Amino acid sequence: MAAEQEYTYLEVAKHKKEDSLWVVIHGEVFDLSTFKKHPGGFEVLFDKGGKDASEAFDDVNHSHKSRGMMATYRIGKIKEGDRQVEVKEEKSVPWLLVVVLFALLAGALFILRG
Ligand code: HEM
Repeated sequence: MAAEQEYTYLEVAKHKKEDSLWVVIHGEVFDLSTFKKHPGGFEVLFDKGGKDASEAFDDVNHSHKSRGMMATYRIGKIKEGDRQVEVKEEKSVPWLLVVVLFALLAGALFILRG
């Protein structure tokens, strides 16, 4: 059997469209594009497109039967060691610029006051 396909969270994140909708559930990757008849609605799946849906999946208390259905949509797993990427980037303050501007201002004041 061929080695199991592995993906990174970054790759999964590219699949958030209706015709290519991937989610991660407990480290496994599912392509839910064809699951338009999901009993919980396609919308909830769409909301999680490209993301980790483990918590949302567990919250529902999916039945044993639904867990059996998962194999149909499974396309692989998350690459070992890959971490979920934090999407929101923190804005860093350009401290060097602040220091340089302050020094210039101080220098200018010094000169102006003679
Ligand atoms: C491969 C993944 C999934 C499969 C095979 C699946 C399957 C099912 C099935 C068969 C049901 C009917 C109830 C049951 O038998 O448990 C259901 C209900 C539901 N699912 Fe999923 N589901 C999947 C992923 C998800 C995800 C990722 C979410 C959340 C984002 C979700 C949210 C829901 C909700 C809200 C319901 C309705 C529960 C209710 O009416 O009480 N499901 N799902």
